[in-house]
Amino acid sequence: MKMRMLEEDELFPSTPGKVKIERVNHRQFHRCFASTSTMFLWALFLVALTASYLSFQSFVDTSSRYLSASWGGLHWEKQIRASAQPHRADAAGISVLVTGAAGFVGSHVSLALRRRGDGVVGLDNFNSYYDPSLKKARKSLLSSHGVFVVEGDVNDDKLLAKLLEVVDFTHVMHLAAQAGVRYAIENPASYVHSNIAGLVTLLEACKSADPQPAIVWASSSSVYGLNEKVPFSESDRTDQPASLYAATKKAGEEITHTYNHIYGLSITGLRFFTVYGPWGRPDMAYFSFTRNILQGKPITVYRGKDHSDLARDFTYIDDIVKGCLASLDTAEKSTGGGGGGGGGVKKKGPAQYRIFNLGNTSPVTVPTLVSILERHLRMKAKKNVVEMPGNGDVPFTHANISYARAELGYKPTTNLDAGLGKFVKWYLSYYGYTRGRKNV
Ligand SMILES: NC(=O)c1ccc[n+]([C@@H]2O[C@H](COP(=O)([O-])OP(=O)(O)OC[C@H]3O[C@@H](n4cnc5c(N)ncnc54)[C@H](O)[C@@H]3O)[C@@H](O)[C@H]2O)c1
Ligand SMILES: *[C@@H]1O[C@H](CO)[C@@H](O)[C@H](O)[C@H]1NC(C)=O
Repeated sequence: MKMRMLEEDELFPSTPGKVKIERVNHRQFHRCFASTSTMFLWALFLVALTASYLSFQSFVDTSSRYLSASWGGLHWEKQIRASAQPHRADAAGISVLVTGAAGFVGSHVSLALRRRGDGVVGLDNFNSYYDPSLKKARKSLLSSHGVFVVEGDVNDDKLLAKLLEVVDFTHVMHLAAQAGVRYAIENPASYVHSNIAGLVTLLEACKSADPQPAIVWASSSSVYGLNEKVPFSESDRTDQPASLYAATKKAGEEITHTYNHIYGLSITGLRFFTVYGPWGRPDMAYFSFTRNILQGKPITVYRGKDHSDLARDFTYIDDIVKGCLASLDTAEKSTGGGGGGGGGVKKKGPAQYRIFNLGNTSPVTVPTLVSILERHLRMKAKKNVVEMPGNGDVPFTHANISYARAELGYKPTTNLDAGLGKFVKWYLSYYGYTRGRKNV
């Protein structure tokens, strides 16, 4: 928010000084226009000046448009094709378009695919919901492994059409979204833009592609909302969302179902449960707690009604990545005709539609999370315990993962203690600490 306002200030500086100068020069101007011939010359001069200004403006305009267009051209297409090319020895590799590739989960999934020899092209708009330098750093990491990340928005239908035309993607891993539950109070439109409009734009592009890719995308455990039946099973009700974020994810499940039904797109929705780990998201509690503890600042710990502790089914990133790859590997092909678009896209038969919980099945309370962090950081937290405000958070989450276990062979293996140990190790090294002290 702050950054955007700053940019606007820089683009439109206030101009009170100019008014003064004009007033001072008023008499001089009058004398110059005294004779008609001088007036004619002045007019000519002004016309020439305006013309040259206008042509300069249009030059600036086209060149800046050219420079800001971060996609297109033969060289760009070559980079996309190279990045999408599988390198598996058994020639069984897949080609995946990963949206949100500069994000936390997207960067991990992209790397894992690349490591096993699949082709990967990333797409991300690098928005400033949290520090974009972390997204740039993830992009650099991907680029050093040969994964190309396109800077663009999932709402850009022309870019999507071009990407799907240049490469016959077998799969789309759709992870781009406006995440976070509380930010929806501040900026509701960003959730509609990315999670609703962006999703529809992506599905439109996929249904028209020939061949149609299979789609695996991130829903969220937040769709269970005020559900009190534990553990949360896929068949439980999901019609009581507690936040706009949850409502947009639930809408996504319905929207993808429509595209599956009409156009034969193969759809797998994954309800992630509080994912954490190295390269994580700075807006999440485990991350901001770590930052504040290291800086000696207090942390705010929410408590539920009747002084009950909040609990989350924290899931380590490597386990989530395994679930994502298994989803891609078990996804059936889409059955739509693709090609031509224009409403001629008929499905040849029903396509696969699946929804899985990807959690850890062992909820941990927030005070326990804090004490594990304190142990790994070897520092005490200054805790500010307050009652949870009713702005979107739910009191607890707990996944039933038996369906994912049966269909995907999904079996989480990292508990919160081990996972936070790895996160803290990454955090200290990424932000230049040597065991609690910052190296400047
Ligand atoms: N991390 C979790 O605990 C968690 C839990 C449940 C669901 N999810 C879902 O998993 C997915 C990945 O989450 P994450 O934790 O990696 O979040 P993230 O914010 O780190 O990653 C999302 C990425 O998408 C990009 N993006 C956002 N809007 C875009 C747009 N319109 N066009 C192009 N790029 C856009 C962002 O720049 C960001 O890099 C999201 O869909 C999220 O809602 C995450
Ligand atoms: C977990 O989900 C499965 C369906 O995938 C269901 O059969 C089972 O009863 C659920 N278990 C519990 C404890 O809710």
